[in-house]
Amino acid sequence: MQRQNLVFETMCAPRYFILPAVIIICYFMTGPHNCVVCQKKTACNVQYGRADCSHLSLSAVPPDLPRNITGLDMSHNRLKGIPPVSLAPYPGLLHLDASYNSITKLDEGLCQTLPLLQTLNVGHNEVHLLKKEDVSHCTSLKQFIMASNRLKLQGEPFSALQNLECLDISINKLKTAKLGSQPQLQSLVNLNLAFNDFTTLKKDDFSFLDHSPFLQVLNLSSVSLKTLEPGCFKPISGLRTLIMDRSNMGTSVISKLCSELSGTAIDILSLRKMNLVTLTNATFTGLQKTNLTSLDLSYNGMGKIEEGSFQWLPRLQTLILAHNNIKHLTKDTLQGLKSLKKLQLTEALVKSHTSSTPIIDDFSFQPLSALESLILQRTAVRELTEHTFTGLTSLKELDLSWSSYTSLRNITNKTLVSLAGSPLRKLDLTGTAIIQINPGSFSSLRNLSILLLDFNFIKQTLTGKEFEGLDQIQEIHMSNNHQSVSLSSLSFVNVPNLKVLILGKSLKATALNLDPSPFSPLSNLTFLDLSNNNIAQIRESMVKGLRNLKVLKLQHNNLARFWKSANLGGPVLFLKGAQSLTTLQMDSNGLDEIPAEALRGLSNLRELSLANNLLNNLKDSIFDDLISLRVLRLQKNLITAVRPEVFKTPMSNLSLLVMDKNPFDCTCESILWFVTWLNNTNMSSLPGIREQYMCNTPLAYFDHSVMDFDALSCKDMTPFQALYILSSTAVMMLTVTALLVRFHGWRVQFYWNILINRTLGFSDSTVEEGREFKYDAYVIHAEEDSSWVERRMVPLENGKWKFCLEDRDSVPGMSQLESIVDNIRKSRKILFVVTETLLNDPWCRRFKAYHALHQVIEASRDSVVLVFLQDVHDYKLSRSLFLRRGMLRPCCILDWPVHKERVPAFHQRLLIALGMTNRLQE
Ligand SMILES: *[C@@H]1O[C@H](CO)[C@@H](O)[C@H](O)[C@H]1NC(C)=O
Ligand SMILES: *[C@@H]1O[C@H](CO)[C@@H](O)[C@H](O)[C@H]1NC(C)=O
Ligand SMILES: *[C@@H]1O[C@H](CO)[C@@H](O)[C@H](O)[C@H]1NC(C)=O
Ligand SMILES: *[C@@H]1O[C@H](CO)[C@@H](O)[C@H](O)[C@H]1NC(C)=O
Ligand SMILES: *[C@@H]1O[C@H](CO)[C@@H](O)[C@H](O)[C@H]1NC(C)=O
Ligand SMILES: *[C@@H]1O[C@H](CO)[C@@H](O)[C@H](O)[C@H]1NC(C)=O
Ligand SMILES: *[C@@H]1O[C@H](CO)[C@@H](O)[C@H](O)[C@H]1NC(C)=O
Repeated sequence: MQRQNLVFETMCAPRYFILPAVIIICYFMTGPHNCVVCQKKTACNVQYGRADCSHLSLSAVPPDLPRNITGLDMSHNRLKGIPPVSLAPYPGLLHLDASYNSITKLDEGLCQTLPLLQTLNVGHNEVHLLKKEDVSHCTSLKQFIMASNRLKLQGEPFSALQNLECLDISINKLKTAKLGSQPQLQSLVNLNLAFNDFTTLKKDDFSFLDHSPFLQVLNLSSVSLKTLEPGCFKPISGLRTLIMDRSNMGTSVISKLCSELSGTAIDILSLRKMNLVTLTNATFTGLQKTNLTSLDLSYNGMGKIEEGSFQWLPRLQTLILAHNNIKHLTKDTLQGLKSLKKLQLTEALVKSHTSSTPIIDDFSFQPLSALESLILQRTAVRELTEHTFTGLTSLKELDLSWSSYTSLRNITNKTLVSLAGSPLRKLDLTGTAIIQINPGSFSSLRNLSILLLDFNFIKQTLTGKEFEGLDQIQEIHMSNNHQSVSLSSLSFVNVPNLKVLILGKSLKATALNLDPSPFSPLSNLTFLDLSNNNIAQIRESMVKGLRNLKVLKLQHNNLARFWKSANLGGPVLFLKGAQSLTTLQMDSNGLDEIPAEALRGLSNLRELSLANNLLNNLKDSIFDDLISLRVLRLQKNLITAVRPEVFKTPMSNLSLLVMDKNPFDCTCESILWFVTWLNNTNMSSLPGIREQYMCNTPLAYFDHSVMDFDALSCKDMTPFQALYILSSTAVMMLTVTALLVRFHGWRVQFYWNILINRTLGFSDSTVEEGREFKYDAYVIHAEEDSSWVERRMVPLENGKWKFCLEDRDSVPGMSQLESIVDNIRKSRKILFVVTETLLNDPWCRRFKAYHALHQVIEASRDSVVLVFLQDVHDYKLSRSLFLRRGMLRPCCILDWPVHKERVPAFHQRLLIALGMTNRLQE
């Protein structure tokens, strides 16, 4: 502020010193200086060949506009005149607006410079003298506006304007309507003389229009005429429209005016705001010899209309009596209006604290046999009787909206019976304080096609009898009835042709808990509005059979429960069967789930609105049937990700997407597809895309537009990700391998070899088989088990077999280790006598077993035989000997039998195991 102050101090006059800076800024916003702070227009806008230079405080026409402009708006500037030379660059101008300036004089060269000029607006200036020469070259001029100047006409200023169609010289304090003495303005159509100071129309005032056959409209608003000389309208008897609004002239002058209009072609007469408090049966006598079709008497504070006042107007088609204070309509008030088609009585009969409720007598409208439209909006009438509307044999539309008629509170079959003879199509009972509709209330309205009952207090269960007799009804509007209407299955059984049914903000929350649905008889229904009802109970059959239903409005209800998968009995798929639906609105329902099948088959849907819900994770394919979708509204939900699995189909052909105010997650997985889609979509179908679509997560993008999301970062991710996976896998594998090698290397090798051998059948067994083994088996046993070996094994060596027992067969002179290694190599099989002791014997475990296995692996021999003297757990076995039962062939695993009689069988099996070939394949 301080800085700005300084700047402005140097720029502007000292008198602004004391003003607050804000005001200074505002001054400069409208001032001639360029102001960067504001967006105010600082130069002319040129568009479609028209230059708008208004409101620029210009004191001259800018010389640098395109030469070919046809329109120039210089209004609201500071012109003091229009020097022709300043317009010389624009010879093609057709329309020049110089209103709201300070022009004091029209320059006679103007139209010479602008020979094509058609419209010249010099309204709201200070032109005083106007002479013929000033506009004598304006022969092309069609419209000349000189309103609100200080005109003083000299001679015949307009006589050269042969093509002028519209002349406005209102608000000029003219003392006479006589603009010239010779006939002129032969093309004139519209003459505006409103707000001038003359009070008399003399006989020859309009004689200058003697030869103006096209004159149609004369505006004399706010001209306080006192005297009309006979024959004053004679020269302009072709006049069709006369506007006399606000001309405070009194009843007798009006009568005089009407007599002067007699015999003219007058068609439309406007007498608004004339303080015409009373109409007498003589006021319009003069209009008898006219073909007047439209009379506007609104805003006159009219309290009394004498009987027969309109008898002179048999050709009147439109009568506007709106905004008056009429107390009483009798059967003779409207007498004679036998051509009247439209009677406008909005606020014409009103009740105030100073006056009693107006009365409409029986048969008041009977004279209006041609009346088609009767508007009684915002009126108050004591009561509607059985004959109030009798005789309206052509009535098609009756508007009683926002009126206060006691009899409408509780409508019975008598209330509207006076309309029985009318071919009524539309009845508007909006806002008429209806509480109850009784059976047969509309039964006399056999032709009714539209019934409006919005904004009432209807509080009842619709049994169906209310609409009895409405054979032709197509639309029932019943919105805003304070949610106090209940339905039954038969509610609409009498109106099967219904196409539009509006029940918004009218139904009780439980009104739709019905089966069969109340709508089931309405097979022609196309539009159903159930919005704003807090509906909390519905059935799956709600719209069943409504094969023509196109628009369904369900917003602002309580339907979330019905689409929850946790709902008792599963989600309620209440849209099933509404195949023709084109518009579905379900905003503000608290929805947090959409069942997979909820929108199935809606292939005609063009507009889907789900705004203001709690939707987040949408299931894949839920929208996949919406192939015709054009408009999708999902704003104000909790959507984080927009994935192609969900949105590709519904978004493939949109012309409008509204999805702002969601907490978008701007990561590659969640938003990349969406951002790419947005980028390739016409911005005009995405309102607020820059400002309203914000990232919520991750932190780096928080509160940034989704359009700021860097798509390239995702493209780089792909090779990087692959690399990452590859390298981490390699590291993992290396680690595992190292660990395995470190702790279980031999075992891996063992399995590996066996695997290779088993699958490829590769073996050196043939070589081996031929090799000379000194022993058949090398026996490994614990010290304690030597007696068992003595007793059970040695006896088997009867010349055929030879075992190697370390104690017995060690080579003398050799170290024990060498001897073991040597003997094992010389043995065809290795036989473990497994006991707990063996497993605990470190020597045996560490060396013998290791070596034996090493041998086995090295030679790829399947040469181990295990003899269990005790039951040993496999786990312990593997811990001590690095062997598992599963590693060996079953026949090489033997258990020492507990029962003696099985010992021979054991011997047999042992010999088989020892005799077994070492070849690894079966
Ligand atoms: C006026 O001339 C400009 C070029 O100077 C041209 O772009 C524009 O279309 C013309 N406008 C009209 C209404 O002829
Ligand atoms: C006008 O009303 C007066 C009484 O107020 C009556 O005497 C006269 O006959 C009426 N004139 C016409 C033309 O109805
Ligand atoms: C009114 O209309 C009729 C027929 O349309 C016509 O003969 C008559 O001249 C018209 N009256 C006036 C005053 O224009
Ligand atoms: C409306 O009138 C009926 C009888 O015509 C009556 O039974 C009912 O109570 C009335 N309802 C109200 C709200 O006055
Ligand atoms: C109006 O309803 C009453 C019963 O409520 C019935 O007796 C009467 O005939 C009905 N009148 C008409 C004109 O339908
Ligand atoms: C529905 O509309 C069709 C065609 O407009 C019409 O023939 C039929 O009578 C209407 N009513 C019902 C109940 O189907
Ligand atoms: C959007 O399109 C522009 C050019 O058309 C491109 O430079 C930009 O990277 C695109 N952004 C995304 C998110 O696709």
